Amino acid sequence: MKHSFVLVLVLLIPVIRAQVPHWGPCPDPAVQPAFNLKQFMGRWFEIAKLPAQFEKGRCIETNFTLSTDSSIHVVSSEILNGELRKIQGTGVIEDMKNPAKLGISFSYVLPYSPYWILSTDYVNTALVYSCTDILRLFHVDFAWILARTRSLPDATIQKAKQTFVENNIDVIRMIPSRQLGCDKNL
Ligand SMILES: *[C@@H]1O[C@H](CO)[C@@H](O)[C@H](O)[C@H]1NC(C)=O
Repeated sequence: MKHSFVLVLVLLIPVIRAQVPHWGPCPDPAVQPAFNLKQFMGRWFEIAKLPAQFEKGRCIETNFTLSTDSSIHVVSSEILNGELRKIQGTGVIEDMKNPAKLGISFSYVLPYSPYWILSTDYVNTALVYSCTDILRLFHVDFAWILARTRSLPDATIQKAKQTFVENNIDVIRMIPSRQLGCDKNL
C-alpha cells in the first residue's frame, strides 16, 4: 500500500509541477444557474488562466458548436512558433440537473475533464473552472476567464477574479493570456 502510494506520487509529479496543487479535495463552487448551453456556444477568447505555467501559445480561443447528437464540438486554437495549431474535442453535459457542469475531452483515450461554467452572461464573459481530486489528499485545478472579445476592461477581470476567490478558488497565480496581434497574418 505504502509503496504503491509513493509510486502514484512519483508518477504524478510531472503533472503536479505543471499545474497548481492545493492540499485537500476540490472546492465545490457554485455554477451558473439556469445555464443555457445554446447561448454559450460560439467563439470565446482566453483572457486569463490558471495555472501560471510558462506560457506556450498565444491568441488562444475556443469555438463551441452543438452537434446534432447534442454533444458539443470543441475546437481550440493557438498560435505557437508562428503556426496556427488546432485541437478538437468533445463536450457533454455530465449531469442534467447541473447543466453548467460540462465535461470536455480532447482525446478518445482520455476521460472527460470537468469544465464547469461558474458564471456567464453569454455575451461578454465566462468564468470556467476545472478541478480534479487526487486521492482526496490534494487537487489540481485550472481556471479561465473567457470573453467574446480579445480583451476585457481591468475592472471586469478584477471582478472575475473576485468571483473565483469567493468560491474558494486560489487565483493568485492567474496570468493574462496574450491576445495581441492575433488578427494579422502569421
Ligand atoms: C465555429 O465552428 C462553426 C462550426 O464548425 C463554424 O461554422 C464557425 O465558422 C466557427 N467559427 C470560428 C470563429 O472559427
